[in-house]
Amino acid sequence: MTDIKKTPAGSKTAGQSIMLDRRQLLLGAAGAAIGTATLGVASGLGIRPARAADRTEISFASASFFGKEGLGDLVKAFNESQSRITVKFIELPPPSSSTEVYQGLVQQLARRNGTPDVFSQDVIWIAGFASAGWALPLDEYFPKDKRADYFPGTVAACTYGGKLTALPWFVDSGMFYYRKDLVEKHGGKVPETWADMAAMAAEAQKAGDAKFGYLWQGKQAEVLVCDAVEIIASNGGSILSADGKSSVIGDDAAVAAIQFLYDTINKTKISPQNVLSWDEEPSRQPFTSGEAMFMRNWSYVYPIAQDPKASHVVDKVAVAPLPHFAGGKSSACLGGYQLGVNANSKKREAAIEFLTWMSSPETQTRLALNFGLAPSRPAIFQDAKLKAEQPFMASLQNVFTGATPRPITPQYAKVTLALQSSISKALVSGNVKAELQAAAAQINKIVG
Ligand code: GLC
Repeated sequence: MTDIKKTPAGSKTAGQSIMLDRRQLLLGAAGAAIGTATLGVASGLGIRPARAADRTEISFASASFFGKEGLGDLVKAFNESQSRITVKFIELPPPSSSTEVYQGLVQQLARRNGTPDVFSQDVIWIAGFASAGWALPLDEYFPKDKRADYFPGTVAACTYGGKLTALPWFVDSGMFYYRKDLVEKHGGKVPETWADMAAMAAEAQKAGDAKFGYLWQGKQAEVLVCDAVEIIASNGGSILSADGKSSVIGDDAAVAAIQFLYDTINKTKISPQNVLSWDEEPSRQPFTSGEAMFMRNWSYVYPIAQDPKASHVVDKVAVAPLPHFAGGKSSACLGGYQLGVNANSKKREAAIEFLTWMSSPETQTRLALNFGLAPSRPAIFQDAKLKAEQPFMASLQNVFTGATPRPITPQYAKVTLALQSSISKALVSGNVKAELQAAAAQINKIVG
């Protein structure tokens, strides 16, 4: 690469239009930038682009995702890819701070003043945002033939009251990370039941091969609900009854599942007490630093585990479906963020154009490669580079598509707080049955 120089702001030399900063070159934006003297490049040089005023400005609010680049880089690439629209990025906290991201969005959308024009939304908020009338129905912009390019389950998750109120973006699901070398040493077979997992983890700990047997997320936060939903489902239980009108979280299947999590800390001792205050990143760190044998987490962890600058376990990690209870089936909690247009946006056309770009095969591939976020378009799972860099994605495609949703209700924000609080109390006190029955009673009042 030549000419990777920073030009002092304000200097206007003949060669300035080809003096891009290194990041732009690395991002492959150079061609587009040279050709169009776009906003991003020009402002980096301290000159105002001649036609900035002709551009429609829209705002995009989103949680910030963790990866080899930031979401701001994607926004910049969009701005540089065309000359009609400028997107202003409003960065919210990371998705692990789910409640804060949710509140940030609600505060803005509830003003009904059209800001932000576009937003990303956790799959659990779609029903609530749609029923509040904040999310523009997108059916006319993305008719049936376009929707056929996405996983039917994701389209269904983006549909509320018969209308498409979100555009599929990425799919997330809980995964079982394991250390290949340690599994090899302690039996050779990846455990499929929770009991086998606990036994193998305890053995590896005893042998001094792993400080921690199993890491998961017990913090009183959204991710705890995710961990709970999947382990409960892996015992045949669930949060809501089949008709969605009452809670069955106080039933035996759910109680036994949460009891297992309690026991990982207090009985089998394969998990440290600290998991009770850990969400995604604090539990990821000891795993990628080589201190743990097994971990439950999302797909974003894989590229980090394979990055020599961030990980001590490069090439030692693989991913499998989460274990299940004897007689049960493996289950993964459905996560992921989808795109929405503010129903009060006055710039719908621009918003739709940005949405289309964000969810395009190219951008979804970039999201998968650089952020470890799984595409909502099945075709991308076959991408050769993705298969080479993150082989688990294609092999676990059915884990993503078969994931178990959290309760689908416009009241989800209330349901999750009840769940977070009761499950957390159950895990701290060990009064699992009583706490889960209290949760059921509370949830019955909310959804009943
Ligand atoms: C991930 C999931 C999201 C979930 C969150 C919880 O970002 O994609 O659905 O709510 O984790 O921390």
